Amino acid sequence: MAKIVVDGRELEVEDGQTILQALLSVGHEIPHYCYHPGLSIAGNCRMCLVEVEKAPKLVISCYQPVQDGMVIHTDNEKVRKAREAVMEFLLIHHPLDCPICDQAGECRLQEYAFAYGRGKSRYIEPKVIADKAVPIGPHVLLDQERCIHCSRCVRFCDEVTGTSELAFFQRGDRTVIGVYPQRPLDNPYSGNVVDLCPVGALTLREFRFKTRVWYLKHTATVCVACARGCNVVVGIGRQRELMTTPGQLDERIKRIVPRFNEEVNQHWICDEGRLSYQRLYASERLRWAEAPAGQRAGWEEAVRVAAAHLAQAACAGSLGAVVSPRLTSEDMLAWRLLLEGLGGVRIGVRRLSRGEDDRLLIRADKGGNSKGAEWIFGAEAGEAQILNAIEARQVRTLLVVGDPLDGSDTFALPEALAGRVEQVVYAGPFRAAVAERAAVCLPTAAWSEEDGTTVNFEGRIQRLARCHLPHGEGRPGWRVVRDLAEAAGVGLPAWTRTEDVLASLAERVPAYEGLDWDSIGWLGVPGGTGAGARVG
Ligand code: SF4
Ligand code: FES
Repeated sequence: MAKIVVDGRELEVEDGQTILQALLSVGHEIPHYCYHPGLSIAGNCRMCLVEVEKAPKLVISCYQPVQDGMVIHTDNEKVRKAREAVMEFLLIHHPLDCPICDQAGECRLQEYAFAYGRGKSRYIEPKVIADKAVPIGPHVLLDQERCIHCSRCVRFCDEVTGTSELAFFQRGDRTVIGVYPQRPLDNPYSGNVVDLCPVGALTLREFRFKTRVWYLKHTATVCVACARGCNVVVGIGRQRELMTTPGQLDERIKRIVPRFNEEVNQHWICDEGRLSYQRLYASERLRWAEAPAGQRAGWEEAVRVAAAHLAQAACAGSLGAVVSPRLTSEDMLAWRLLLEGLGGVRIGVRRLSRGEDDRLLIRADKGGNSKGAEWIFGAEAGEAQILNAIEARQVRTLLVVGDPLDGSDTFALPEALAGRVEQVVYAGPFRAAVAERAAVCLPTAAWSEEDGTTVNFEGRIQRLARCHLPHGEGRPGWRVVRDLAEAAGVGLPAWTRTEDVLASLAERVPAYEGLDWDSIGWLGVPGGTGAGARVG
């Protein structure tokens, strides 16, 4: 450890860090643009200058390692003047389009201009004009004249994806950021440059002009688009849609950004996960209970009919069930207990495999909770087993528990087997193809509409959070199961909250033993480490 004095305050910080890292780690904010903890140090913006006693001039705090005995001044006259000078330079050619810039509200240039700007330009020459709103890839748009040349985006493409699409071109005040000819920014992680850009030079085409960021309501949760389980923050539009339905809130997901978790995704997410919310809106939602499909029914009546179908088929030994690998573990356990209670039911978990694992985050297994399904239903519970049983006429009534993220990922009956299934009972958030011929459809909550836990491919248990209310009559899967169990006369534990179902998981699934909502925490814990161990 090194003992340093910062603005008259004695601090003890870890050796081997830079001054900026050490100060940020103790919550002492120093303005900075080019430094990012996930990238190499460039030291090019000069915004992080501080005074170190006995040093001949101001030092770049993101580059200079801390040393025992250092006396540092981060907010004296000399340092403030240096920051003001940097800001004046950065703003010389910067366009005055803050009112229509997507970065407004979370722009470092705005924040530091407020703190260190002159409020008035002394520059009377014409500003350098650069390109605006240039699509440089399928998801990213570039406003060249907003760029402050911090090189974060360039370093990301060089160091993290290794694709090197971005570079600086020309020299001096003509320097611009851009992509090489015929080489668009088209890698599977391209959206991260938008999060990295401290100003509005790089914006996401899918988010651009959708809302002002101060209208967003943020919720920390976990992506289920693949088995990695990246930690994310979901932004819900809360703007009143005065132009359409007076008083209505625009409760749709507007964007998803990464949330730092060193054990899972560090600072990044892939574009598929970032845009996975679009899949929630691509399929038609099932808003009300229906019995049969297409005919609205009261909730109690639909539950009664569904329970009767399931109980009869289970009694005859002809009930099979296919569940999505993206359900929360709580919903999976609830379905398992109901089906066990009915007795003699064949259970299969849908397999969602596409593409290949890559070296960064992407997994070929697209089941966000495949590992949890393995723990809860057993490794041998596969979709193929149910298809074989249908073919052999052992399964004639099928319960399909639909995908909570994407209706098109819900199990679909192959045409050749459709005639062998006499009855389908469907529970899911979307009007999936298999639901069209269902005797009963029960709406459940989608991925962003319920709390719960999932397990990533490495066995890490993580918390999913409800970002907004379910659509229509939809409700968490375990609550649907609770109603079905009551109607079918199957005894389940008395669950009233998700935490109660989690407690049942902790009792029945060894890897969940000893865990509860608080001990799983915001960053999750490896399965099997719960007993007695509380992690914040
Ligand atoms: Fe930095 Fe943004 Fe310019 Fe890239 S585009 S160099 S991230 S300011
Ligand atoms: Fe230190 Fe940019 S953050 S020079």
